[in-house]
Amino acid sequence: MTVFSGFSKLNRGQRINYIVQNSLLNGSEASGLNDYLAPNENRQQVFSEMIENYIGNFPLPMGVVTNMVINDETFIVPFVTEESSVIAAASKAAKFWAERGGFKATVQGMAKKGQVHFTWNGKPQFIKEIFPVISEKLLNATDVLTQKMRQRGGGITAIHLIDKTEELTDYYQIDVSFETADAMGANFINTCLEKISSVLQNINELNSGGYNVEIIMAILSNYTPDCVVRCWVECPLEKLIGWNKKLSYNSFATKFKQSVDIANMDISRAVTHNKGIFNGIDAVLLATGNDWRATSASAHAYASRDRKYKGLTTVRLTEKTFTYELELPLAIGTVGGITGIHPVVKNSLAVLKYPDARKLMMIVAASGLACNFAAIASLITTGIQEGHMKMHLSNILNKLNANLLESERANSYFTDKTVSYTGVVEFIQKIREKK
Ligand code: MEV
Repeated sequence: MTVFSGFSKLNRGQRINYIVQNSLLNGSEASGLNDYLAPNENRQQVFSEMIENYIGNFPLPMGVVTNMVINDETFIVPFVTEESSVIAAASKAAKFWAERGGFKATVQGMAKKGQVHFTWNGKPQFIKEIFPVISEKLLNATDVLTQKMRQRGGGITAIHLIDKTEELTDYYQIDVSFETADAMGANFINTCLEKISSVLQNINELNSGGYNVEIIMAILSNYTPDCVVRCWVECPLEKLIGWNKKLSYNSFATKFKQSVDIANMDISRAVTHNKGIFNGIDAVLLATGNDWRATSASAHAYASRDRKYKGLTTVRLTEKTFTYELELPLAIGTVGGITGIHPVVKNSLAVLKYPDARKLMMIVAASGLACNFAAIASLITTGIQEGHMKMHLSNILNKLNANLLESERANSYFTDKTVSYTGVVEFIQKIREKK
C-alpha cells in the first residue's frame, strides 16, 4: 500500500487530478465541481480557505419557514436541509401555532464548561487544601485571554477541582465554567483551558518531592446541561381541531399524548422522535453557521439524563388545555466562528433580524418543536408518507430526467394519488412509450 504525502500542498487543480487518477470520479464529473464555485473571487476565497484539502463547494438547498411567532415576535426562519417536506411541515406547524398564540420560549442558562484532565501522584487531601491558592494562579494566568470577553459580559465564572481518583488512579479534573456572551465560545474556552493546563503543569507545590502533574488533555465539554432553552405551545383543547378534521380534538390530544409517552418509554421510537426535532434544529443551525454536531451530541446525552434515553418533549393535558414543550441544551452563537465570514450565514442572520445568542436559541428550539409537532400530528392522522412523498415527487422526477411537460403531467396526475417511486416510474414510462 503506497502512502501519499503532500496532498495538502497541492493546489486545487492538482488535488482534483490526483482524485481522478486514484478514484472512480472521471474527468468530466470532476470538472462539474467548478459549477458550484462562487462567481466572485473574494467570496470563493472564503470557502477555499475555510477547510483543509479543499476541492469545491457542496450546495444544499435553503428555504424559509414563515409565520414563526416566538414570544409575540414574528420571524422568517431560514432552513438549510436536503430533506423534502421538512420546511412544508415546519411551515404548517408555524402557521397553525401563530393562529393560537405562537411559540413561547425562555432560556434557562447559558453556562458552558470545559475540563483540564490530569494526573497527580500525591495525597488527594493535599491538592484539595492548596487548590484555592492554585486556582488563583490559574485564573490570573487567563486574565489577558478573558479581558475582551469580560467586557462583553462573559468570562470564567467558576473553577473547581474534582477528585476522580476512585475511578481512575491519580486522576483529577479542573472543571471550569464559562459565560461566552453571543459566541458559541469553543475557541475561547479551549484557549483558556490550554493556558490553565500549561500553568498547572508548572505549579511548584505539585511538582516537587517526587510528585508531579501530568496533563492528559484540556478541552471544552460539548455536554451543556446549563445552557438550556425551553420552548412550548399551548391552546384550549378544542382549538386543536384545525390540524386535521379526521380526528376529534379529544382523540387528537389523546393520541398525541400517547405518541409522546411512547417516545419516553421506548428507545426505538425516542430516537426517531428526536430525529424529527433535529430536522428543524439542524436546518437552522446550518443556515446560521452553528456547530450541529456539538448540539446533537449534547442533546442526545441530555435525552439520557435520567439514565434512560427519552424523547426531548413533554405533553401536558388537562381537561381544557393542551401544552407541548421541548427542552434541550443548545450552545450556539451569533458571533465568532464562521458567522462573520460565510456570506450565506450573514444573510440568514439578517433574515432573522440579527438575533443575539439567547434569541437564536429560542428560534432554533421553536423550529425543532414545529417540525416535531407536525410530524406527530401527521403520524397520528394521515401518516407521513402522503405529505412526504408529495414533496418528494420533484426529486423522483429529477432523478428520471423528466422534462417540463412530463413533470407538469406527473404533478397534475398525482395531485389526488399516493406518490410512490414505482408509480412515478411507470407513469413517466407510459408517457414516453406513447411518443
Ligand atoms: C422524518 O424525517 C422524521 C419523522 O420520522 C419524525 C418522527 O417520526 O417523529 C417523521
